[in-house]
Amino acid sequence: MRVPFFAARHVEAAVSPEDAVEAVRSAFVAYARGEWTMPPKVYVPAYPAGDFRAMPALGGGHALLKWVTSFPGNPAQGLPTVTGVVLVSDASNGMLRAALDAGAVTALRTGAAAVLAAEALGRRDARLAAVIGAGVNGRATARTFLARGHETVLWDVDPDRAAAAAEELGATVASSREDALGADLVATVTPGHELVYRAGSLQPGQHVSLMGADGPGKAEIAVEELARVRVFCDDWEQASHNGELVHAVEAGALARDSVTELGAVLDGSADGRRSDDEITLFDSTGLAIQDLAIALAVLRRYDADPGGFGDVVELEAG
Ligand SMILES: NC(=O)c1ccc[n+]([C@@H]2O[C@H](COP(=O)([O-])OP(=O)(O)OC[C@H]3O[C@@H](n4cnc5c(N)ncnc54)[C@H](O)[C@@H]3O)[C@@H](O)[C@H]2O)c1
Repeated sequence: MRVPFFAARHVEAAVSPEDAVEAVRSAFVAYARGEWTMPPKVYVPAYPAGDFRAMPALGGGHALLKWVTSFPGNPAQGLPTVTGVVLVSDASNGMLRAALDAGAVTALRTGAAAVLAAEALGRRDARLAAVIGAGVNGRATARTFLARGHETVLWDVDPDRAAAAAEELGATVASSREDALGADLVATVTPGHELVYRAGSLQPGQHVSLMGADGPGKAEIAVEELARVRVFCDDWEQASHNGELVHAVEAGALARDSVTELGAVLDGSADGRRSDDEITLFDSTGLAIQDLAIALAVLRRYDADPGGFGDVVELEAG
């Protein structure tokens, strides 16, 4: 049996940022309705260098496992922070259908979730979008904001990174850190080693998608700030144990009934933003159902036109 391996360039060519937003939207809704399922993500710590994650999901007639990393020191050695492989199997007979580059799948679905949350929860008249952290996943987020027609600025602690990313994407470097943090729609995609938002720093009407603090020991926002705003997350079980929210939950500043899952808002079963003055915050830990949505979009394209993928390598399996 032959199984295609989709490298990063195949994934990127097959699924546009706009397609990724729609695929990830459908996945959040299917998960909220119980149609797609997702056993908890397993962290395999290898600190201080980083950690591995094993992320399974089931939906759309397929099962997925993503084996992926977060090694924040890697870019200094010319290596990516996030890397690994995604496996997709047919859920009717267990046969392996495809393997995909996990970095590319992750970047597409992370950008999609950040922008989906910003559009669902931000003010209707929101104008400026800002991305804090212009690494691999920050660039994917900026690319998605731009593809969806948002005026977008970038800010990074490393000005050269911000400038290079802005040039690559056709975005603008923010005039200052304060301007970027004060934008209508903000996505933070930093390693989560230092706070981006301190107590009292968010302004009425802002929305922020916190993408960076997706594992133990990371934070992009002060606990006091989390307790002051409307909080949404991708998945309560995952976010309250390993994401940004864990610090506030442990401090007793945040409880389950004050946090809404994004899928419930997209599904129409829960309120999103309730007023123009509200500050909305989305905590993303990254869900395997998002990866499944992107992997299935790649597979659909491949099944429709295998020749269109050119030089896909096939692995021998089974
Ligand atoms: N929530 C999710 O679904 C999800 C998905 C992928 C990655 N992540 C997490 O997002 C983070 C970033 O991932 P990446 O692959 O883009 O990493 P990366 O190393 O490629 O990029 C990180 C960028 O952040 C910049 N940075 C560091 N500290 C900063 C600060 N205080 N303010 C502004 N910029 C700062 C760095 O200069 C770098 O450009 C990691 O923690 C990763 O684990 C989350």
